[in-house]
Amino acid sequence: MSARSAVVITGANGEIGHALIERLTEHGQDAVIALDLREPDPSVAKRCAQVVVGDVTDAASFERVSDQYDVRAVFHLAAMLSTSSEKSPERAQSVNVDGTLRALGFAMARSARRGAKVSFVFPSSIAAYGVPSLAEKQRAGAVREEQFNAPTTMYGVNKLYGEHLGRYYSRHYRQLAQEPNPPGVDFRSIRFPGIISAFTVPSGGTSDYLPEMLHAAAQGKDYACFVRDDTRIPFMAMPDAVDAILQLADADAAKLSSVVYNVSAFNPSPAEFSERVLRAFPQVKITYAPHEKRQGIVDTWPADLDDSLARRDWAWAPKYSLDRMIDEYLLPNVKQRYAGV
Ligand code: SER
Repeated sequence: MSARSAVVITGANGEIGHALIERLTEHGQDAVIALDLREPDPSVAKRCAQVVVGDVTDAASFERVSDQYDVRAVFHLAAMLSTSSEKSPERAQSVNVDGTLRALGFAMARSARRGAKVSFVFPSSIAAYGVPSLAEKQRAGAVREEQFNAPTTMYGVNKLYGEHLGRYYSRHYRQLAQEPNPPGVDFRSIRFPGIISAFTVPSGGTSDYLPEMLHAAAQGKDYACFVRDDTRIPFMAMPDAVDAILQLADADAAKLSSVVYNVSAFNPSPAEFSERVLRAFPQVKITYAPHEKRQGIVDTWPADLDDSLARRDWAWAPKYSLDRMIDEYLLPNVKQRYAGV
């Protein structure tokens, strides 16, 4: 009997991990193997064929993934986000870069075992961009993948390098080796904007202000936003982020002209977003207390992303506009989640 097909998800207990695992186990055929630093929430763990609690920087964590499975894909979600990474850049390097190297090594080894490529999806970030000034940000408008690739945060530096590592592993790995390489990895990455989930709250990111505002208001709590009310960066709804990951993973390799793709949906300022939040939760107060350094970081991120390459190569199109996300996804779910709070 052939081994059961499986996908490995690092950072399984994070925000994207929760949503991706739910989707994969509801609609997919693969066994899901979760790897996370902490024991995943019971709602995640119960959906997984195997749970490995371990650090992505430690090769031994990957060695514990059961040999019983034919690992056909790795979704390498484990990362320290931008605000956390600025507090501890050396640890960020270790998690975001060494962890990625370990995950790529694991995928390489599994490709040798299965005699076929292992698909590798890497969520990169808007943080890979570094726009030098606010004036330039306003002038730039929707930014393409190859523009402003000089990030100002450790997280952005790490993510940009992760993209390069993936390109190297999938196209040029050990190009001077005498012995043949294993089939290797099929690496694909997405530069995500801020992501908003109705079910989880982010931590350690610099785009956290919109989801924090929504989740605070839904619990009847006031919120002091840590960036100016006119700050503008792109966002998208979590279900669209999961769709993007799965669509890119399944896309026909012959149609992919890049290993890195922008995706985007809308870009409300906190003032615009809060207006809608306050319509739903009029009893709360939203104020602004910009944090100088965090403001400085989002000011270097583009106001908009040009995702025409993803639209052309793999038919990317978000399902949720800002209004639809708020009315059909966020409000019904957060109201239910916090009912009685
Ligand atoms: N949400 C991320 C962060 O703020 C951006 O990719 O760090």
